[in-house]
This record gives sequence, structure tokens and C-alpha cells, in this order.
Amino acid sequence: MSFAAAILGALMLQSVSSQNEPSIATSEHITLPVEGDAFTLQCNLTTTHSPHQESYWTKNGEEIEETRSLNKNTEYRLNKPRGDDAGVYMCVYTFEMAPAANATIEVKSAPDITGHKRSENKNEGQLAILYCKSVGYPHPVWTWRKFENGALREIDNSTGRFFISSRDNYTELQITNLDISLDPGEYHCNATNMISSRDEKSVLRVRSHLAPLWPLLGVLAEIIILVIIIVVYEKRKKPDDLQDV
Ligand SMILES: *[C@@H]1O[C@H](CO)[C@@H](O)[C@H](O)[C@H]1NC(C)=O
Ligand SMILES: *[C@@H]1O[C@H](CO)[C@@H](O)[C@H](O)[C@H]1NC(C)=O
Ligand SMILES: *[C@@H]1O[C@H](CO)[C@@H](O)[C@H](O)[C@H]1NC(C)=O
Ligand SMILES: *[C@@H]1O[C@H](CO)[C@@H](O)[C@H](O)[C@H]1NC(C)=O
Ligand SMILES: *[C@@H]1O[C@H](CO)[C@@H](O)[C@H](O)[C@H]1NC(C)=O
Repeated sequence: MSFAAAILGALMLQSVSSQNEPSIATSEHITLPVEGDAFTLQCNLTTTHSPHQESYWTKNGEEIEETRSLNKNTEYRLNKPRGDDAGVYMCVYTFEMAPAANATIEVKSAPDITGHKRSENKNEGQLAILYCKSVGYPHPVWTWRKFENGALREIDNSTGRFFISSRDNYTELQITNLDISLDPGEYHCNATNMISSRDEKSVLRVRSHLAPLWPLLGVLAEIIILVIIIVVYEKRKKPDDLQDV
């Protein structure tokens, strides 16, 4: 009897507290680029039963500086929004007597590859590392391809020497134990999200591992040739000298 009453009480408390939950009206999710120079993200705290303290904005989970305010209606302005403004924005309201509440606005954009290894020069047998990094949201799905016979093809990993590791806005292609006849060429990283895709190329050159020795070998060859010339000359000269005497 008292047990049932306790459960009932807990249920009622829960429903009361969920009724008391603050609600936040937000502006729409957006996709960049937007027309005009600026775009404003808005949050309005519409119902609350507990006095609120302040609000602030976060981007990708990190607080944006100088956005704390005491207003129930809060705005965050994106000036000249670009690819790196894309991400997950959140307005957070804190309360004196209740846990913080928040609402999320997504700003999406096509991926843009903002950095990549343009070329890599290595010796055969060495390790090559190519990478690409991007801005844009949602984070892209990364793939790597190689330009072969006039087309981009999936990398042939039959030798098991290719390793791809991708995390959010970064991807890396490692090629171990470089092969001078198989590996040189153009590699392309491809970043694709729901909005569109981008592609960048890196050129890999592989030199013979003898290459660093060539200057030394050249000097050695010169010395050997010189020695041979001297020996041959001396051998031919000696009989003549003897006859002359
Ligand atoms: C928030 O409130 C302001 C001022 O009352 C209003 O102009 C704006 O449209 C509201 N925004 C949302 C997302 O409800
Ligand atoms: C946002 O609210 C959810 C629950 O509504 C909570 O789990 C999360 O921790 C909150 N995030 C922040 C940054 O306050
Ligand atoms: C890539 O993401 C990491 C965290 O996921 C972030 O610290 C870094 O600034 C991002 N880099 C770019 C170029 O967006
Ligand atoms: C290539 O093969 C190796 C060994 O089987 C494997 O560990 C690696 O993940 C493969 N790389 C790719 C890009 O499939
Ligand atoms: C990236 O790969 C996807 C899927 O294979 C393809 O549809 C897209 O055209 C590629 N993007 C570029 C810029 O090559």
C-alpha cells in the first residue's frame, strides 16, 4: 500500500518535473553558403519555471567566447559564413535551481579540403605518408584512389602495404616498403558528405635506394678508370723504354 503510494508519488514528481522542463525555440538548421553577408542563429527561452541565470553558445561542444548573456532571447551572428563555420551549435541556459538546458542548431556545408600533401619524394623501401584535412559538416566519408590508365581507381592493396586511417576531418594514407615500379603516381583523397564532395591530388615519387650513392659511385668510377689508364700506360711504356736504352 505505502509502496504503491511511493511509486505513484515518484511518477507524479517525474511528470511535474517534465512539465517544468524549460523549452527553447530555435531558428532552423541551415546549409551554407547562405545569401548575404551574415546569418544569425537564434534561441528563445519560451517556458521556464525556474529563474534562469544566463545563456551562452557552444560550437562542436566548445564554448564560444563572449557569448554569455542574461537575456532569454539570444543570438549568435555568423559574419561571412564559410566552410569552417559549419558544425553543431548549441545554446545553453543555466538556472539557479535546475539543471542546464540546451538546444542544437546544425550548420551544414560541403566539405572543403583545406590542407593536403602536394608531393612526397621517398626512396624505395621507405614509408610514404599522404594526408588530407577538411572543414565542413557533417564530417566527410574519406576514400583514396590512384590515377591509373587514365582513370581514378580504388587502390590495389594486393601487396598489403596500404594503410588508411581517417578521423572526422583528417585522413592519412600510409604506404610501407615503397616499390619503385608499382607505387609512383598520383593519389587522390576524396571527401564526400551529404551535401557534396571534393577531391585533391598528391604526387608520389620513388627513387632507387642507390640514388644517394650515385655521387660516391661516380667518384669511385673516376678513380678506377684513372688507375686503369695509368696501369695500361705504364705497361706499354716499359718495353719501349727498355728497347731505347
Ligand atoms: C525569438 O524572439 C524574437 C523577439 O521576440 C523574435 O523576433 C524571433 O523570431 C524569435 N525567434 C525564434 C526562433 O523563435
Ligand atoms: C544538453 O542537454 C542534454 C539533455 O537534454 C544533456 O545530456 C547534455 O549534457 C547537455 N549539454 C550541455 C553542453 O549542456
Ligand atoms: C578537426 O577536428 C578537430 C577535432 O575533431 C579540431 O580540433 C580541429 O580544429 C579540426 N580541424 C579543422 C581544420 O577543422
Ligand atoms: C591493406 O592490407 C593490409 C594487410 O592485409 C591491411 O591491414 C590494410 O588495412 C589494407 N589497407 C587497405 C587500404 O585496405
Ligand atoms: C568522390 O567519390 C564519390 C564516390 O565514389 C564520387 O561520386 C565523387 O564524384 C567523388 N568526388 C570527386 C570530386 O571526385
